[in-house]
Amino acid sequence: MAKGRVLSGMRPTGRLHLGHLFGALDNWRKLQEEYECFFFVADWHALTSDYADPSGIKANTLEIVLDWLAAGIDPEKATLFVQSKMPEHAELHVLLSMITPLPWLERVPTYKEQMQEMKDKDLNTYGFLGYPLLQAADIVIYKADSVPVGVDQVPHVELCREIARRFNFLYKPVLVEPQALLTEFPKIPGTDGRKMSKSYGNAIFLADSPEVVEAKIKPMVTDPARKRRFDPGNPDVCPVYDLHKIFTPKEERDSYVVPGCRTAAIGCLDCKGVLLKHMLPVVTPVYENRLELSRKPERVQGILEEGTARAKRVAKETLAEVREAMAL
Ligand code: TRP
Ligand code: SF4
Repeated sequence: MAKGRVLSGMRPTGRLHLGHLFGALDNWRKLQEEYECFFFVADWHALTSDYADPSGIKANTLEIVLDWLAAGIDPEKATLFVQSKMPEHAELHVLLSMITPLPWLERVPTYKEQMQEMKDKDLNTYGFLGYPLLQAADIVIYKADSVPVGVDQVPHVELCREIARRFNFLYKPVLVEPQALLTEFPKIPGTDGRKMSKSYGNAIFLADSPEVVEAKIKPMVTDPARKRRFDPGNPDVCPVYDLHKIFTPKEERDSYVVPGCRTAAIGCLDCKGVLLKHMLPVVTPVYENRLELSRKPERVQGILEEGTARAKRVAKETLAEVREAMAL
């Protein structure tokens, strides 16, 4: 039986951090073992909000591909490419735009939300309204049946299903209606205790060296009630403990970290030392892989060229069927 086909993309808006590693990338790494996977950098989608200053998009595209490879996305198993190298997506976007009722786009919840959130940018553009339709073209051009995304993207996959259904109804059954595969994001706090995010300045990046990771963990926010060394603490309200849950074996947490914190037998610096002992062996190899790859840009270029060629074979086939169905 043929393997199912997975497609997902990320906008190149900055380097990836631990939130991405334990959310999307862990998930992709598992999916690449079981499915035929297409993963791409959505640089046109970055342009929908960053059109006034596109200067960072190209560099971020390469950084993100380095992050993927360093995290174990395997170009032998998954097809990796960059959206703007695939004009086929744009042609399909135009063709689908002919059958897309405007209200379908206007009522996508992210449309008005994001416009509110990014008030500093003028997003009253055709490109921004059409964002989810371009995303639909990205998906259906590969006839992907599964699309791993976070919960915020589910309405986009839903719109994609509606478009595919409408196309198949108007012409002939060419397009596949995809399912969203909801990605679970474990709770990853940043160094200030808020959700890890590049824009909060609290992130630990895949590109951070072990020294930088250590320097970020040492001053990390802890249980705010634990002001002095001999105040007992509460791991349940401590963001450092949320990281322990990811990196430190349960046995050591239960026998040492939790009782040590609650009785003030250990201090927060001791506790962070234990965290680093488990964290560094996980993040250092990713950092080292990344460093090594960053010194071989021609290898990364080769991976993307091969991925683009593979993706094009599939995209061209679908596009030919679509043109034929639309009597072009
Ligand atoms: N909109 C997605 C995001 O913000 C990125 C994306 C573009 C995407 N095209 C896609 C995701 C197709 C899945 C499938 O993260
Ligand atoms: Fe947090 Fe550890 Fe300090 Fe307890 S000892 S407050 S778990 S950092």
